Amino acid sequence: MKEHLALTVAWPAPLRRLVLEGRRALLRGDRAAADHWFTEALAVEPNIPEAHVGLSLARRPGPDYRAWLARLHIALKPGVYVEIGVEAGRTFGLVQADTLAIGIDPAADVPRLPVKGQVYRVTSEEFFASVLPTLPAALQQATQRIDLAFIDGDHCFASALHDFIALEARMTPGGVIVLHDTWPLSQHTAQPERATGFYTGDVWKLVPCLRALRPDLQILTLAAPPTGLTVVTGLDRTSRVLQQRQAAVLAAYADLPYSAAVEQQLALTANTDAALEPLLAWHTQCCGRAASVGETMSMRASVDGFDAGPERSRHPAGAAAPNGAQMPPPLDQAGVLPSRSLPTQDTGS
Ligand SMILES: C[S@@+](CC[C@H](N)C(=O)[O-])C[C@H]1O[C@@H](n2cnc3c(N)ncnc32)[C@H](O)[C@@H]1O
Repeated sequence: MKEHLALTVAWPAPLRRLVLEGRRALLRGDRAAADHWFTEALAVEPNIPEAHVGLSLARRPGPDYRAWLARLHIALKPGVYVEIGVEAGRTFGLVQADTLAIGIDPAADVPRLPVKGQVYRVTSEEFFASVLPTLPAALQQATQRIDLAFIDGDHCFASALHDFIALEARMTPGGVIVLHDTWPLSQHTAQPERATGFYTGDVWKLVPCLRALRPDLQILTLAAPPTGLTVVTGLDRTSRVLQQRQAAVLAAYADLPYSAAVEQQLALTANTDAALEPLLAWHTQCCGRAASVGETMSMRASVDGFDAGPERSRHPAGAAAPNGAQMPPPLDQAGVLPSRSLPTQDTGS
């Protein structure tokens, strides 16, 4: 218990006391008190990683992102899995024995690989541009039918967008791409430039970007600790919308700060067991291509009070999702993007 309470940095005594009070409150299950103490600490010193971690635990109960990934592996049984950003293999190690698992990370240090796992110690850009074409034919073919992918690399919007484009072009029908760190804890920890030890970067921008430009995708963000997990299905390997607009998208989103208005655009979904059900329904529906495009386009997460913005359908038919919810307004109508906001229709330009 004492070890658990130990702090990694010798903060001044008053700060140390605030953080330790927060941790004690967490340990006795008093999340409101924990929130209070960690918030107090961060008001004095905005860069205390232990306080950020504590705050996320206080505010965001339920299964964490690794627990959700484990559940996705069990539920989806992917034949081929790709993970960008493997580090020590704590999520890479969640794959099942039958899954061919490909990890990509220039600094990967995985002590024990999955049964059918291999790691490439390069950046994702290097992997897709120069490593993949040199792989044995069977492996190249496998990377053309990815069932589940996890983007957890360098926390930059530009990299995440690149990775999403590269992966989507190689996903199977019904494939699922999962994005980490899409629900920042605060504006301070969600900037493109790293200002804090606890840091999620601006990878969150990919969610409003996808919702604005790719209404054909089904997207939900699980409100999972520490910093959310976005699940994207209904992928279309033939779509070139993002690729064609990549430069314009990066420019349009460059100065967008994280805010409450942006949070409304994350398709946040309560972090409960039930959240998996619409995901699996989407997956099954996309796999079989059973639903018409119009039906699948209008699906979205059950919002459970998180995404309480105005409800307007961007689809002419205004088709309701199975849960009765409709797609939110395009991002530009919500006033989140600057006036030079991007068009939301693919004109093939
Ligand atoms: C947060 S860690 C990944 C953690 C891991 N997925 C887990 O949950 O246990 C991020 C990793 O991304 C890697 N990374 C950074 N830039 C990258 C890039 N361009 N391509 C691939 N991996 C990258 C880093 O080396 C780091 O190990």
